[in-house]
Amino acid sequence: MTDTPRFDTLLITGAAGNLGSQLRRGLAPLARKLRLLDRIECTDLQPNEEMVTCDLADMEAVMAACEGVDMIVHFGGAPVEKPWQEVLDSSIRGSYHIYEGARKHGVKRVVYASSVHAIGFHKMEDQIDARSAHRPDTLYGLSKCFVEDLGSLYWDKFGIESVMVRIFSCFPEPVDRRHLWSFLTFNDCVRLVTDALCAPRVAHTVVFGMSDNKVKTTDNRYAAHLGYQPQESAEPHRARVEATVPPQDPFAPSTIHLGGGYVDFPHPDDEAQK
Ligand SMILES: NC(=O)c1ccc[n+]([C@@H]2O[C@H](COP(=O)([O-])OP(=O)(O)OC[C@H]3O[C@@H](n4cnc5c(N)ncnc54)[C@H](O)[C@@H]3O)[C@@H](O)[C@H]2O)c1
Repeated sequence: MTDTPRFDTLLITGAAGNLGSQLRRGLAPLARKLRLLDRIECTDLQPNEEMVTCDLADMEAVMAACEGVDMIVHFGGAPVEKPWQEVLDSSIRGSYHIYEGARKHGVKRVVYASSVHAIGFHKMEDQIDARSAHRPDTLYGLSKCFVEDLGSLYWDKFGIESVMVRIFSCFPEPVDRRHLWSFLTFNDCVRLVTDALCAPRVAHTVVFGMSDNKVKTTDNRYAAHLGYQPQESAEPHRARVEATVPPQDPFAPSTIHLGGGYVDFPHPDDEAQK
């Protein structure tokens, strides 16, 4: 006899992406069905999966995708700094459509891929916590601030819970010295999203998404009720990274601030016009 999964249907947006692919694998045991949403079709659908290929900017399609869903894992949208129009359509409008879909269809909770870039202009030694003010370092980071506040509104007014996972650096392995403190392994990412989905009550929770790295730059005490305990760290990669990547200038803005190199990025629309 197999255990009945905790959820009937989970919606994963950004399912064709790097983290979406990890979540498809890692969250599969939790739900009878994973509904995948992306503008790129996932061509390797498993028997427990169904695909909705649409743009997050398409309100009608996104609303329909939210029907019959228990919870939403919202990882779709612009994943780095992009021109304003792309940030507006994919991340701001797209996330509004997700929350409206949740409201109209009675979805209980949204787990959102927020980012360090929502608070990128805070300094490492400030040891900020979840109640520290937003300090976005890019239009991308600004869109993450918008969605964190959108979730706050939808909790206070409509009772839809959110976990805002401020992911720092989640890639196959650390490649630079900043990653030695900012890294979130794929397995810890799946653990954190699992805890965000399964914790009995989350209200509107902000959590810093990092593994158990030796160097710590933020304080996660306001997310302790999620029960997230990272099991991995960047330390096994330290020797390789330090042998191959030159030390950072300790006084450079990109070293001092949590957002790293994003604090030095120009306006993306100036870039696009070049
Ligand atoms: N990887 C990291 O280190 C990291 C750090 C902070 C935050 N995040 C956040 O995690 C999420 C996933 O990141 P990723 O690294 O897997 O990026 P990714 O680019 O691999 O995945 C993003 C996915 O979203 C889809 N998408 C983008 N715009 C869309 C739209 N308008 N309509 C439908 N689908 C759309 C893309 O097709 C892609 O499959 C993003 O929201 C990103 O901001 C990631």
